[in-house]
Formats: sequence, C-alpha cells, structure tokens
Amino acid sequence: MIEQLLPLTNYPLYSAAALLVVAMATITFPVLFFISAPYGRHQREGWGPTVPARWGWVLMESPAFLGFVVVFAMHQELATATGWVGASIYAAHYLYRAFIFPFRMRGGDKAKPLLTCFLGFAVNACIGPALAFGLTVLWTTPFGPWTPSAFSGLGLVLAGALVNHQSDLILHRLRQPGETTYRIPYGGFFQWVSAPNYFGEILQWLGFALFTGIPMAWIFFALTLANLLPRARSHHRWYKIEFPDYPTDRKALIPFVW
Ligand SMILES: NC(=O)c1ccc[n+]([C@@H]2O[C@H](COP(=O)([O-])OP(=O)(O)OC[C@H]3O[C@@H](n4cnc5c(N)ncnc54)[C@H](OP(=O)(O)O)[C@@H]3O)[C@@H](O)[C@H]2O)c1
Repeated sequence: MIEQLLPLTNYPLYSAAALLVVAMATITFPVLFFISAPYGRHQREGWGPTVPARWGWVLMESPAFLGFVVVFAMHQELATATGWVGASIYAAHYLYRAFIFPFRMRGGDKAKPLLTCFLGFAVNACIGPALAFGLTVLWTTPFGPWTPSAFSGLGLVLAGALVNHQSDLILHRLRQPGETTYRIPYGGFFQWVSAPNYFGEILQWLGFALFTGIPMAWIFFALTLANLLPRARSHHRWYKIEFPDYPTDRKALIPFVW
C-alpha cells in the first residue's frame, strides 16, 4: 500500500500530489475547527479580494474534473472494468459540481474570497490527476468489482449521492431565484441532521474508496472528512444561534450520533 501510495522514484509527480493532499488534510482538519472557511453563511470581511460564488465554484472544482479526464484519457488503455466504473462515478460527480451546480445555485452572486478558490483549485489540481493515475497506471488490485467491500462500496456511493442530491435540492428550494435569505430546512435527512448534504458526500467518497480500493481514494476521503466534519459543526452552531426555534433533537452531521 505504501509503495503504491508513494512510488517516489518512478512517479515523483504523483507522489508529490498525494503528499500535498495528505498535508492539506492534516492542516485543514484542526484549523477548520477554529476558523470556519469564509464562504456561504460564514463569509466575512478580511479575506482579501472576492469573486461571485458561482465563478469561484467553477474555478475551484474544474481541475478536479478536467485534470482527472485528461490523465485518465492518457492512460485509459490500462484501466480495468472497475477502473472505468470508478472513473465514471468520479467524473460524473465533478462534471456536475464544477459546471452544473454553480449555475443552479440560488445566491451564486454572493462574494466568495479568491483565497478559498485558489486553495480549492490547488488541491483539486492534485486530486483529479492523482486519482486518474491511481485508477490506471498504479492499478494493482487483482480482484474484479464484485468483492464484498467493492460491492458495499458501490452501494454507499449510490446511497451517498442520493442523500447529497436530495439535501442540496431541499436547500435549493428554500430560496426564490435572486434571494440570499436563510431558512430552516425540513424534510429528507434534515429531520435528523443539519448538514445531510455533507453526510451524503462523505458516504459517497467512503464508498468510492471501498469500491476502488486505491490509496489515493482513501486520501481523498480523508480530505473530505477534514473539510466537512468541522464545517458541519459550524453550520449546526450557526443554525442554533440564528433560529431560536431550531429543532433541538437535530444532530450536526451523523444521524442520532453527532
Ligand atoms: N468533497 C468536499 O470536500 C466538499 C467540500 C465542500 C462542499 N462540498 C459539496 O458541495 C456542495 C455545496 O457545499 P456548501 O458548503 O456550499 O454547502 P451548504 O453550505 O450546505 O450550501 C449549499 C447551498 O444551499 C444554500 N443554503 C444552505 N443552507 C441554506 C439555508 N438554510 N437556507 C437557504 N439556502 C441555504 C447555500 O447558499 P449560500 O452559499 O448562500 O450559503 C448554497 O447555495 C455540497 O453538496 C457539499 O457536500 C464538498
């Protein structure tokens, strides 16, 4: 596993990208517990120049899709059937996140600090190509996609994507076009947690790591946790401060647990 993760001699670029993402996850996790990433409801002055949020999202997420597609296309003759399924899951998600989600957002003209966009851009420019490389050149798993862990991984990907999309749709419908108001969301997994879209996203990338079994997918999962766990806590606290009638039995991220 370590050899596949860090083949420094043969693939220094891949190894550097993987290490950078590990470093980002290690730094991000504790920092975000003290400083909420300044975008969306946590946007505030003092974080330098800003861009409209929707363009910030395009800038941030496009290398995750384009970097992945370019590197996967370069080595696609090495991809197994499992590699192709994994690639389709990842590419479909980031095609949506980079080029569809930003143009459906309600409140997408709000300011987003360029700094957050550049950090997102840099880390995604590492993750996309490194995952594609992992799914092709570094693929060593002798098994097909139907091992128990791969099978349950695929189930988690589907369940996570459903929860993520359902929750984002509920949030989307809380606003009229052009509005930026916040309201208490109800329905779907919001009956249990304040950030079900993050819960779905986390399930999805856990499933992806189980399904593909490649080290880079586990690193990506760790980074997703490092980003979304503290942010879910910030959202939950924010709701409780902003809305005195916020449901008291709702947890932050994990139904019935936390
Ligand atoms: N893989 C990762 O590491 C990662 C990291 C970040 C995000 N994501 C994914 O990207 C998507 C968006 O993330 P996000 O951080 O922007 O999620 P978010 O804070 O839940 O916001 C999602 C959208 O809904 C709006 N919204 C949220 N709460 C609302 C409320 N109470 N009333 C009205 N509108 C509300 C937001 O508007 P405002 O922007 O105006 O607040 C935004 O347009 C999610 O699906 C998330 O899982 C993934």
